[in-house]
Amino acid sequence: MQQPAINIYDTPEIASATLAGVMANLIRANNAENKPTVLGLATGSTPLALYRELIRLHEEGNLSFRKVVTFNLDEYIGLERGHPESYWTFMWDNLFSKIDILEANVNIPDGTLAPDDVEEYCETYERKILQAGGLDLQVLGIGRTGHIGFNEPGSVKDSPTRLVVLNEVTREDAAPTFGGSNNVPREAITMGCGTILRARKISLLAFGKKKAGIVRAAIHGEISDQVPASYLQKAPHTTFYLDREAASEL
Ligand code: GLP
Repeated sequence: MQQPAINIYDTPEIASATLAGVMANLIRANNAENKPTVLGLATGSTPLALYRELIRLHEEGNLSFRKVVTFNLDEYIGLERGHPESYWTFMWDNLFSKIDILEANVNIPDGTLAPDDVEEYCETYERKILQAGGLDLQVLGIGRTGHIGFNEPGSVKDSPTRLVVLNEVTREDAAPTFGGSNNVPREAITMGCGTILRARKISLLAFGKKKAGIVRAAIHGEISDQVPASYLQKAPHTTFYLDREAASEL
């Protein structure tokens, strides 16, 4: 059976620049044929160097995002778009405001819906991805719990976009930026594992010693809902972009 590719780089910057190059080639090829490129995007500290490199390529002048359509993985429940810790704010501050993407082509789950409206909203989010032609490439980080997006332990392989309860480890990891764990939302909307696995290409970035254990579990551990990233073992269209520290337990 074909396996995911595991690429190990000397630094996070080199890994990120390599993935940025792959994404830029895809976007340029589609632009040349006047076709959209549909990207699934992630938040967290890990993709920051990737976004910096995409901005640099745009500023150099030969990478346009005008035909790019994006779908973000997730958003916290209860945060307005303008909240400093919302993923909406994160994406506009770290990428979208610095490139020529059209706001109408940006999709980030809405964390401010009334509870009764969430299910229908999630179904619409899935439908919008399909109507856009499906995800050409999904960028992922990995949480210490083995989550991809906010698919925490217990998430089944074909799970759809939905409301989830955040794991306490995930909330602890987010506590510093929220000024304490009490301020971290308890729920989120996330694209499902099924949604992610349907992307035509999946690129998971992981850097640093603190990710080494969970990277090992994801790549070599049992495939189990206790480590949702382990589902990628059966997704040969996945590439892991690791630095030496994250790969140190493989
Ligand atoms: C959050 C995001 C995930 C991300 C994870 C890792 O939980 N929802 O998509 O992969 O954090 O964060 P970091 O990249 O900061 O380690």
